[in-house]
Amino acid sequence: MNARQAATEASGRLAAAGIEDARFEAELMAREAAGISRAAFFAGSALSAEDALRFEEWVERRTKREPAAYITGHREFYGRSFGVGPGVLIPRPETELLVELGLEELDREPLAVVAEAGTGSGAVAVSIAAERPGACVLTTEISAEALRFAAANAARHAPWLRIIRGDLLSAVSRADVVLANLPYIPAWEIEALEPEVSRWEPRIALDGGVDGYDLIRRLVLDCAQRVRPRLLALEVGFGQAGDVEAILASHGVAPWRVKDLSGIDRIVCARWA
Ligand SMILES: C[S@@+](CC[C@H](N)C(=O)[O-])C[C@H]1O[C@@H](n2cnc3c(N)ncnc32)[C@H](O)[C@@H]1O
Repeated sequence: MNARQAATEASGRLAAAGIEDARFEAELMAREAAGISRAAFFAGSALSAEDALRFEEWVERRTKREPAAYITGHREFYGRSFGVGPGVLIPRPETELLVELGLEELDREPLAVVAEAGTGSGAVAVSIAAERPGACVLTTEISAEALRFAAANAARHAPWLRIIRGDLLSAVSRADVVLANLPYIPAWEIEALEPEVSRWEPRIALDGGVDGYDLIRRLVLDCAQRVRPRLLALEVGFGQAGDVEAILASHGVAPWRVKDLSGIDRIVCARWA
């Protein structure tokens, strides 16, 4: 059986497991399992016995709704490949906005200290540190499992990044730019999310407490009382921008929103200095 035939057969099983883009996912997994290009896939490239076994194992895992990025072990983010697996959040494309905001701020003030709270795979902080090797970038994380992925991704793309194990910015004495994609899902909503998220991604990366804002409130308070960054940029979920603006406004700053490519208010920002 060639890779294309194997993908066609597998796409039926993936669709039956409730996977929306079953055909596309089957093609991607077959190509990755065989290490072949799209052109070779459509030209009927053969699957070796070893590749076929790997592909079969991957399809089996995917039918249990394990995220594709955990199965292949990586996800692209801001043009680089990040290692991911159970224990760390898979970086989402919309989070690249945080990288852009951080880079813009560094273009204005190259000596600014950039700190990210809750780095997960390291996607945001590693991308900024890799794009601006001379800048002072540091990042924090509380989960030991996530820290292992962040350290490996930093070692690959930006070994000069400082990664600190700790609660939010508690171990950071100075930051001019604070970026964060903190857990913001209300705890009671997590079970209703798609299985790839609710069953597989770490709860500590998702759970924002009763209303979703526990960690955001704590970080904003720390910024207001102590850090006072020239830019705080917080990623938020669909429909949350107004609430986060209200949290920021209650500390006397004037927030604004940044939309993602789908037109959703995705980042809420504020300045202290
Ligand atoms: C939504 S994930 C974002 C991960 C990564 N920044 C990204 O955008 O892909 C939130 C991250 O914050 C971490 N986290 C949760 N509570 C934290 C805390 N109190 N201090 C530091 N990190 C925390 C989680 O372990 C998780 O890695």
